[in-house]
Amino acid sequence: MQRPEKLTKPDGKLAVLLPGLGAVSTTLIAGVLLARKGLVKPVGALTQTGTIRLGKRTENRVPRIHEFAPIAKLEDVVFGSWDLFPDNAYESAVHAKVLEAKDLDPIKDELAAIKPMKAVFYPEFVKRLSGTHVKTEATKWDMVEALRADIRNFIKANGCSRAVCVWCASTEIFLEPGPVHQSIASFEKGLRESDPTIANSMMYAWACLKEGVPFANGAPNLTVDFPAALELARETNTPVCGKDFKTGQTFMKTLLAPGFKARGWGIKGWFSTNILGNRDGEVLDDPDNFKSKEVSKLGVLEQILQPELNPELYGDLYHKVRINYYPPRGDAKEGWDNIDIFGWLNYPMQIKIDFLCRDSILAAPLVLDLALFMDLSKRAGFRGVQEWLSFYFKSPMTADGLYPEHDLFIQSMKLKNTLRWMMGEELITHLGNEYYD
Ligand SMILES: NC(=O)c1ccc[n+]([C@@H]2O[C@H](COP(=O)([O-])OP(=O)(O)OC[C@H]3O[C@@H](n4cnc5c(N)ncnc54)[C@H](O)[C@@H]3O)[C@@H](O)[C@H]2O)c1
Repeated sequence: MQRPEKLTKPDGKLAVLLPGLGAVSTTLIAGVLLARKGLVKPVGALTQTGTIRLGKRTENRVPRIHEFAPIAKLEDVVFGSWDLFPDNAYESAVHAKVLEAKDLDPIKDELAAIKPMKAVFYPEFVKRLSGTHVKTEATKWDMVEALRADIRNFIKANGCSRAVCVWCASTEIFLEPGPVHQSIASFEKGLRESDPTIANSMMYAWACLKEGVPFANGAPNLTVDFPAALELARETNTPVCGKDFKTGQTFMKTLLAPGFKARGWGIKGWFSTNILGNRDGEVLDDPDNFKSKEVSKLGVLEQILQPELNPELYGDLYHKVRINYYPPRGDAKEGWDNIDIFGWLNYPMQIKIDFLCRDSILAAPLVLDLALFMDLSKRAGFRGVQEWLSFYFKSPMTADGLYPEHDLFIQSMKLKNTLRWMMGEELITHLGNEYYD
């Protein structure tokens, strides 16, 4: 990554394109519309409320991140979407049952005006859903071309100067990169032949990359995490990042595990189970879709604890993750963790966590941050994988051969140091010996 020679200003309107107009997207859109009216504070979004320390601690320079870096303003954001259901953002938000009428009523007309474009949807990748609001082009190549036309038309019709895309549609079945995913040429041949290993999300990502639109992936699907897409991202100077928003239980895991490891506590077992009853939960009830999520959720402990370096503390760790679809809870997920730890003289102890959270309330501010930071990346001239945004993901994308960094505190430091570096400020190492000379 090159330090930007010239970071362009966020002039004009920014199209934030969201494949999937479901619970997360509508909660995000509603929050931004309410914040614009001054009716709510954008809690949980680093780009809106976060601060960044600059220089030495004695300098007392701690601006808001949005005052420090040229981040697009909420007033300049225009939302667009695709979905296989024709419901507008108001109808979809009512269906999702995340927000109450008191929050939806003041913005009802603005929400109702946001109507999804027709989706690219081959049902074999999300077996629990079927919808009618879908494109009918003959081949996957034609589907990509139709999505590209959607993007261009949306930008033009809404007077936007640029766009970003954050995948907020359903989790797809587990796929691994095959021969078709290896190069631009093999992938484009696959599109023309409607290769069955090219999933819906890959077509959206491909269309965005072709249009130079930054693409962030909020689900665990491969989507943009395969060699051909990365080649295209470099070729078209487009930033990409993913995968799978780090919101509830995995957020807690990557918050706590670094602390346990730092104290040198042993861990024998970590059992995590969830109940949730929204449409996402219904999709994840299918074993093939859950497999994508499971792989993404299981990876974090292994990397943080490094059992190969600490076999006496973590060599026997038993890690299990379950998600149970339980309709009565809707979006109000409950996640339990039982952690069996051991300390001095191997004496066992237990930690229990019961996180009564709200899935989309946790995810919405992450989508906002990702959209705004990806736009910043593009204006800074960054391209390819944006590892500095690992902070937002359960399964961060990295350069080939690098293991992903899961420790939340390292991720946070990486994010802020990247902003300092981007803006020509000194990096902060926390060494601090200059205060004692
Ligand atoms: N909420 C969280 O905490 C969280 C955390 C990590 C990841 N995610 C992921 O974010 C995504 C969105 O979650 P949600 O709760 O909003 O789900 P949701 O089911 O409410 O919404 C997803 C929407 O995507 C649509 N969709 C599916 N395939 C599509 C396609 N090919 N094109 C266009 N639209 C399509 C569905 O019709 C649905 O309206 C899911 O993949 C979920 O796994 C959510």
